[in-house]
Amino acid sequence: MTRRVFAALSLILAFPFISAFSAEPVKPVDAIRSGEIWLDESGARINAHGAGLLIYDGRYWLFGEHKVEGELGNSAQVGVHCYSSADLYNWRDEGIALPVSDDPASPIARGCILERPKVLHNAKTGKFVMFFHLESARSNYRDAKTGIAVAEKVAGPYRFVRAERPNAGDWPSNVADADKKPLSADERKALDEMFATGKIKTGWTPDYPTNLLYRADFEGGQEARDMTLFQDDDGRAYHIYSSESNGTLHIAPLTDDYLDWDGEYARAFSGRYYEAPAIFKRDGKYWLFASDCTGWAPNAARLAVADNILGPWTELGNPCRGTEAEVAKTFWSQSSYVLNVPEKNICVFIGDRWNPQNAIDGRYIWLPIQFDDAGVPFLEWRDAWRFEEEAAK
Ligand code: DGJ
Repeated sequence: MTRRVFAALSLILAFPFISAFSAEPVKPVDAIRSGEIWLDESGARINAHGAGLLIYDGRYWLFGEHKVEGELGNSAQVGVHCYSSADLYNWRDEGIALPVSDDPASPIARGCILERPKVLHNAKTGKFVMFFHLESARSNYRDAKTGIAVAEKVAGPYRFVRAERPNAGDWPSNVADADKKPLSADERKALDEMFATGKIKTGWTPDYPTNLLYRADFEGGQEARDMTLFQDDDGRAYHIYSSESNGTLHIAPLTDDYLDWDGEYARAFSGRYYEAPAIFKRDGKYWLFASDCTGWAPNAARLAVADNILGPWTELGNPCRGTEAEVAKTFWSQSSYVLNVPEKNICVFIGDRWNPQNAIDGRYIWLPIQFDDAGVPFLEWRDAWRFEEEAAK
């Protein structure tokens, strides 16, 4: 071996170490700084939008939409990204838990819309189940389907199982028997007319037909867009989704294996256009954070409470405190999840500050949920906060 070849070989072999040693060490994170760019333990930007979390095996697992630059990032080009952490400040990249498919015939083909992934661990089957809002590339948000994927290990790989609309052939549990019937020909005509003349939109409309849409979708399944999953203390899991042209929220219990809906579901807030649902339970009460329905633009948050997750729900108005603008725009964010951390005695509001022009640059808004003297949750802005200090309050 010539000296020159030897020198070149040694340089190639040494390269990973040189770069590892010469790279700036990543500074450990010691506080939550909403709205700033968050880096993982390797120094890369955390890419997990519309996120959900799972506490499992002594670690926190974060799942979210991996977004790319520009408007292209509003569609799924990569998949669902997973990170894990021991302290909720410092995150290890666990890779893409559910990649989009290269097969154009797949429901999760690259370019589809895959939003708000949420993962639960099923103690009975031992499996991890992921639900997400799924639209095919050209559906213009009209598919309103739910994708389901499953994994043996928390970080995946997740296997895509199927996509469908929930609760086909099932009536809501909380409507009168007289309203459990398919549309008549006249009602169908009236509804078609309302769609054709733009009287029904996926955003607020004064003519919202509270009694027609779930009946129209009885056969094909209920529309499901913004969504979350909630696992109750007894292990029962619920899929909560914006349905009926986003005007009505559905709360649908899952089967024991979490791979299907059990057919009983309740409607809530009909005609109120609740999006971005995020539920937590505290002292036996169910609390729901949600948003209004204004596309990617932030709006005023909503809070509701119930003794039974299937309702009735009571609306409590806007849970934000701060300047007029902060309150009107939820600190320029939209809810995605509430993380209940019993071991830290804290619940965390997790939201997105979307950036549809450059999707990757959407920011994460995490705020400690505070409780007033009557035990009602509220949110206040924090530039930087620590679990240890907030929990003590
Ligand atoms: C608002 C929803 O909350 C988001 O998840 C996303 O679906 C946008 N609408 C799309 O406009």
